[in-house]
Amino acid sequence: MTQDITSSHPDKTRLPFAPAHRLSVAPMMDWTDRHCRYFHRLLAPKAALYTEMVTADAIRFGARDRLLNGHHMDQDKPDDNAIILQLGGADPVALAEAIAMAESYDYAEYNLNVGCPSDRVQSGRFGAALMADPVLVGELVSAMRSATRRPVSVKCRLGIDDMDTEQTLDRFIDTIIESGVDHMIIHARKAWLNGLSPKENRDIPPLDYDRVYGLKSRLAAGADDIPISINGGFSDWHHIRMGLDHVDGVMIGRAAYQQPAKLAVWAAQVFDHEPVDGDTVMAAMADYADAEIANGARLISITRHMLGFANGRKGAKRWRRTLSEDARDPASRGDLIRMAWDSLNQEHEEAA
Ligand SMILES: Cc1cc2nc3c(=O)[nH]c(=O)nc-3n(C[C@H](O)[C@H](O)[C@H](O)COP(=O)(O)O)c2cc1C
Repeated sequence: MTQDITSSHPDKTRLPFAPAHRLSVAPMMDWTDRHCRYFHRLLAPKAALYTEMVTADAIRFGARDRLLNGHHMDQDKPDDNAIILQLGGADPVALAEAIAMAESYDYAEYNLNVGCPSDRVQSGRFGAALMADPVLVGELVSAMRSATRRPVSVKCRLGIDDMDTEQTLDRFIDTIIESGVDHMIIHARKAWLNGLSPKENRDIPPLDYDRVYGLKSRLAAGADDIPISINGGFSDWHHIRMGLDHVDGVMIGRAAYQQPAKLAVWAAQVFDHEPVDGDTVMAAMADYADAEIANGARLISITRHMLGFANGRKGAKRWRRTLSEDARDPASRGDLIRMAWDSLNQEHEEAA
């Protein structure tokens, strides 16, 4: 996995599309932290996992180690370790510097956030607001590529506010492609920067998968067939399958986080392997919790990502209660996970 981290991309040659991107878990602030990614990696060993967004300035001036320390579980299988660092920023020099600082943490790729509509992000004039300035986004991508030999991708929306998504999305993508971007992820809805909260912006502007599929067809027919992943509202196998028929990858956000058992099933289907076994996952999580607690973590900060695992099963309520309430006790250890898992299975057997 160790690469030459001192040099930049030699030119605008696009780097190969990693198979891990066929199914990815979206960047989600406060959700996809390193504990969550450890859990998701067990459930979906071959999928691409995105970090929460980290701003370039937080890396340059903040607690860098705390922000960037991740988990690269199996150094012998780098292809199974696709963790992508999502960056926020609008200054080419700052982004390049942040990447140079992040290189030794061994993320597989870097992604630029051009989709987040929050006020905090808008006041820094990055995130979704950048959709109005494709030339600047192109400069940001070029600067990012100049700081690494690893792939650089952009996650964007169909447009913002009253933009005409037919024309402006094409212009946006074509400009970014010119900069040598390796992969685009498109959240298939607009962002409305005035009047909607970030949460509303994930549901209210309507999804338009056909716009993304149309874009991919146009690119595939031309000279520059860049890999495209689609994101937004994927929550069942039928739609994931359909998505993969049209584009190169499907990115899943809330459904993967809220229903992690389904993530395991989808990952097995996409990557054609046996679904991971719950006993193995829970034993690994319990061991992981013990190791993390020994280093100062609290059990609740790990188990809070696991609450949805039992959804739809008898005993789900008790599972959630144990892993949310009992896990708050500072004396709790990984054994609580083992115990909760055993009692979930017991209830299941009794009900059968
Ligand atoms: C809690 C939460 C936090 C999010 N944080 C980010 C973020 O840091 N960066 C980003 O690009 N998108 C962020 N998003 C948006 C998701 O990446 C994704 O685009 C969106 O949820 C739509 O996908 P879904 O319908 O599969 O959830 C966030 C979404 C949620 C629910």
